[in-house]
Amino acid sequence: MSGDNLLFVNAAQTVTCAGPARARRGSGMADAGVRSGVAVLVERGRITAVGDEASLRATHRDATIVDCAGGVLTPGFADSHTHAIFGRARYEEQELRATGVPYMEIARRGGGIHASVRDLRTRSEDELFALAEPRLRSLASSGVTTVEVKSGYGLSLDDEIKTLRVVRRLASALPMRIVPTWLGAHEIPLDYRERANGRREYLDLLIYEMLPIIAREHLARFADVFCEPGVFTVQESREILGAARSAGLGIKLHADELTAGGGAELAGELHATSADHLAAVSDEGIAALAAGGTVATLLPGTMLFLGKSSHAPARRMIEAGVPVALATDFNPGTSPTTNFPLVLTLGVSQLRMSVAEAFVAGTVNGAAALGVADRVGQLAAGFSADIALWDVSDVREIPYWYGAGRCRASWARGKPCHVHDLALTFRV
Ligand code: NIG
Ligand code: FE
Repeated sequence: MSGDNLLFVNAAQTVTCAGPARARRGSGMADAGVRSGVAVLVERGRITAVGDEASLRATHRDATIVDCAGGVLTPGFADSHTHAIFGRARYEEQELRATGVPYMEIARRGGGIHASVRDLRTRSEDELFALAEPRLRSLASSGVTTVEVKSGYGLSLDDEIKTLRVVRRLASALPMRIVPTWLGAHEIPLDYRERANGRREYLDLLIYEMLPIIAREHLARFADVFCEPGVFTVQESREILGAARSAGLGIKLHADELTAGGGAELAGELHATSADHLAAVSDEGIAALAAGGTVATLLPGTMLFLGKSSHAPARRMIEAGVPVALATDFNPGTSPTTNFPLVLTLGVSQLRMSVAEAFVAGTVNGAAALGVADRVGQLAAGFSADIALWDVSDVREIPYWYGAGRCRASWARGKPCHVHDLALTFRV
């Protein structure tokens, strides 16, 4: 099947991110493995060589040539945190926050996550699929080839399962790699909040009704909890995540997004695969993440959109040996963007990461946050052919042209995910 083989040539730079196939920490994040004058060979969906262009051309004359025309090749991004399955947009909340109403107050008034829950419950699987598909294609057009998609706007047995079935359908319909996460513990539904014993009843619904079905039908690879004062407590999160782990799921937490509440400490204690947000993380939380080997997934787009001037302390985490990932948090309330390079921009400008650290955070460490770093996140022999081609001549331009759409094309497992401009592709 040599017709399936691709040889990427004529790139000004190739950002390989090559190195150990696991989360990178400390100085291990400082080198993105930028090379010049190399070609990338893809055979049957895998990268089989990254090396001298002339010799690969000579030995693989039957491969389809992809002429990068002086652009930059990078691994496709692994966006390890999205809430892409939702109904309508929530633009009205943006103005409310601008007048000084905080995010949590909007939720207390029945808006926020509750508004998306009311909306999603009225929609069919087909409708949710039709809404989500172009959103994921939009992510692919910004260089994302692996994406995590959470449930969490259903919050009932039927609506959470409906959401995860939509994710499963998307995974078979699109070339991207899609990792499903069950976030039944995104909020306590309003009717449960109003009942005397409602919190306990909702926990029981999560643990004894939803989780067994989700585990049995393999509808999710991870379980996640919004562990934050006002939402799920540390004790409740420990109970839900313990049950999820026993049922065979990996574990993640939304932790310390707005207030330091012990979420990062819990993530480290449980050796969670990732703890996400962490804008308000404590020093003890940072130490716990480092000790637990937990990836800190930082979501600077969320802080930007919420109008916060504070950001997660990325530098302190990197110095403490915590592996840091970057992701979009794409969702209708706090981060309605599918622009992954913009997150890199914020990583450099706001979190004070180097360009190399931001790339490692968006590729290898994003893959580690999804448990797929053994095959995703690097342009190196043996890795999945998940590749993005950029219309720039230096890797530093990708975060520099902020807000711009410079991704010319992306491939997952060697199949096109997005093609903006491949007029320069030809066969020799
Ligand atoms: O990651 N913080 C909790 N969940 C989402 C926001 C969800 C929403 O507001 O719809 C987040 O920011
Ligand atoms: Fe989130």
